[in-house]
Amino acid sequence: SLAGVVIAVDGPAAAGKGTLARRLAESLGLSYLDTGLLYRATGRRLLDEGADPADPARAEAAARALTPEDLRRPDLRGPAADRAASAVAAIPAVRAALLDWQRDFGRTHGAVLDGRDIGTVVFPEAPVKLFVTASDEERARRRWLELRGRGVEADPAQVLAELRARDAQDASRATAPMKPAGDALLLDTTALDAEAAFAAAWALVRERLG
Ligand code: CDP
Ligand code: CDP
Repeated sequence: SLAGVVIAVDGPAAAGKGTLARRLAESLGLSYLDTGLLYRATGRRLLDEGADPADPARAEAAARALTPEDLRRPDLRGPAADRAASAVAAIPAVRAALLDWQRDFGRTHGAVLDGRDIGTVVFPEAPVKLFVTASDEERARRRWLELRGRGVEADPAQVLAELRARDAQDASRATAPMKPAGDALLLDTTALDAEAAFAAAWALVRERLG
């Protein structure tokens, strides 16, 4: 039985982690948690307060005060929210404040979690870990299309530059940097649409779970 199984899906921005993780969860009857929302909601609280998202004490307090409603806010996407999320995510006390909550979620339901450090820090014992990538240009194209779908005509070069800057920050921070776990399965989706990426991931997951 899959009850209690945790699947980790990590990777850089707009690689298709969420789309894939949600589908895996549905197919396996597991819960799904988008852990990026925790950092986005924390960063958003600081923006609301007019505080610097890189302020450790304010950011920790905001992370500890998160409510389920915060995670449902409609303004958690977009360039300002992206930057604020990455800034608070570099603060060790913020990550510590969110750790138990993520672990409890996974342990209670069995779940697919997507983020940056699920396979390395949150659930290093997860039996299945995927690290989803795609070229920078393809990921920027996907994010640009998403923005357009929300009525935002962004500058493609700026979307690419912001995505690269955020990946660099996420990969270089001292605490829980974005990186594949040693036993992660790498899935390059540059040439795969969401359907093909799911099919490839499904085969890998079936193989690992036996
Ligand atoms: O969670 P993450 O930021 O990694 O990406 P996402 O929100 O799941 O996907 C970003 C966009 O890429 C969405 O509009 C997806 O439909 C699209 N996409 C995908 O998810 N997977 C592919 N293989 C190709 C495109
Ligand atoms: O959808 P996208 O990949 O652009 O971002 P996200 O997954 O919603 O994550 C937003 C930001 O939160 C990332 O740039 C990271 O700085 C941070 N994050 C993290 O540090 N650890 C996680 N497990 C999830 C997100």
